[in-house]
Amino acid sequence: MSKYTITDARKVTTKRFLEMKQKGEKISMLTSYDYTTASIVDAAGIDSILVGDSAANVMAGYSTTLPMTLDQMIYHASSVVRAVKRALVVVDMPFGTYQGNADLALESAVRIMKESGADALKLEGGEEILPSVKKILSAGIPICGHLGLTPQSINKFGSYVVRAQEKEEADKLKKDAQLLCEAGCFAIVIEKVPAKLAKEVAKKVKCPIIGIGAGNDTDGQVLVVNDMLGMDTAEFKQPRFVRKYANLQEVVTEAVQNYISDVKSGDFPNNETEAY
Ligand code: KIV
Repeated sequence: MSKYTITDARKVTTKRFLEMKQKGEKISMLTSYDYTTASIVDAAGIDSILVGDSAANVMAGYSTTLPMTLDQMIYHASSVVRAVKRALVVVDMPFGTYQGNADLALESAVRIMKESGADALKLEGGEEILPSVKKILSAGIPICGHLGLTPQSINKFGSYVVRAQEKEEADKLKKDAQLLCEAGCFAIVIEKVPAKLAKEVAKKVKCPIIGIGAGNDTDGQVLVVNDMLGMDTAEFKQPRFVRKYANLQEVVTEAVQNYISDVKSGDFPNNETEAY
């Protein structure tokens, strides 16, 4: 593992995403939900920050992403936007704010863009949400699609297993990727599908494909930041496709236990710490 240094300090744009795909430069994306994490992730040089509705799981402790509201996403997104100088900030539209109603979709999209200052939005689904996608795009708001395992449809899927293993679903995914791309989406996240399928889609469509649990032949990768930092909790175990770059659960536990011991023993504060 080698440490990355930023070579191009310009603000990342949706146009840059396309240029990166064309040049064969992989796109790095991580989620963030708060000001402090986003400051660190952005300064480290990430290309894009996704304010994911996975905030429902890792910030709020819900078992699905469905309870997330528009106001909650705007709160998380505006906290991230205040921190970010370089990365492209993409915000998830929450469940129930865009499906089946293009007018509602535009209204929700405009609220997120106006009230958070984000750069772009992400919507889950293919052909069935195309009218909403087109309506939002017509207002000049960039959209990233999301296909494969789409967590807002977990009640339809019934589990978080790998999607599109059968031909029918794989064919639909390929068609959906083409439709989203032709409609004008600047990128598509493809989650938890066979690597061979993700590779085929990335090769076929013009817009960048950002994979998560979809192999190494996509145009970029995204992970939930809490997962890759090893912030495990009793309820949330990391998916198998995650690589842990730190073990913050252990680091934080040790720090907290040391603090408790120091308070209990009377060692903190002492004459090394400033007193007022
Ligand atoms: O909400 C989220 O974090 C996401 C990623 C897992 C792609 O959609």
